[in-house]
Amino acid sequence: MKNDELKFYSNVKNWDFSMIKSEEEKLTNWDMFKILNDCTNENSVVLDLGTAGGERVLKKFPKVEQIIATDFSEEMIKTAKENLKKSGKKNIEFRVMDNLNMDTPDNYFDVVVARHTPTSPKQIYKTLRNNGKLIIEGVDKLDCWQLERLFNRGQAFNDGKPISQIDYENVLDAGFKNVELVPIYVREYFKTKEDLVALLLKTPILDDFSEVVEKNEKDLEKLDQYIKENTYDKGILLRRMYYGITADKIE
Ligand SMILES: C[S@@+](CC[C@H](N)C(=O)[O-])C[C@H]1O[C@@H](n2cnc3c(N)ncnc32)[C@H](O)[C@@H]1O
Repeated sequence: MKNDELKFYSNVKNWDFSMIKSEEEKLTNWDMFKILNDCTNENSVVLDLGTAGGERVLKKFPKVEQIIATDFSEEMIKTAKENLKKSGKKNIEFRVMDNLNMDTPDNYFDVVVARHTPTSPKQIYKTLRNNGKLIIEGVDKLDCWQLERLFNRGQAFNDGKPISQIDYENVLDAGFKNVELVPIYVREYFKTKEDLVALLLKTPILDDFSEVVEKNEKDLEKLDQYIKENTYDKGILLRRMYYGITADKIE
């Protein structure tokens, strides 16, 4: 499973979606970047787990003393280092690390961020300073659920417990205080079928979508049916369902 994921992300090489034309309508006002902004200052030291090509760390993180950003894919970190060079930023270090086998120092970071990537809350707890904060944003079980039901498969389709609940319980078990779990609902509208297909090709929403596009006519019919039933003035609607967790280390 972990090896499949590593292969998947190493093939993708970046997490840049700027070529896809879509607009978001947030139904919930939980904003990871605002929370990060509010809990940091110019002296803060931040860890970003599963950073991919550093796309968000470089563009959306606030100005702080130091950011260490890690990913288990060497290809992603290679892209991130190229992006860092172009940005000219000096306070960010990218390096390879498995989130589930962390080697960062104990009691070091003021904030740990994990956006759409697996975590080990116990290991995060160790690497946070006292009064440090954990911010997680994840893709929940019911993300793109209408599409997945039509295809009868997809990311988390066969999960028993929702990933949000598993994460929430692991964060509580790790000893964090003030743990809050917030559901995040977003309507994402894609301008054209090609934009939606580009998303499905790049992400694991429908895990084997690339093969579908090339070979499976029945599945292509299902995609057309989905588009027919979910096209609005703003575009083709995908109902996204994420979750946010914030938690504090207080000893
Ligand atoms: C969906 S992308 C999210 C990227 C970035 N956090 C963002 O929000 O744009 C997930 C990233 O997590 C990385 N990843 C997945 N499992 C990991 C693990 N066990 N350890 C470290 N990185 C991992 C992948 O290589 C990929 O770059």
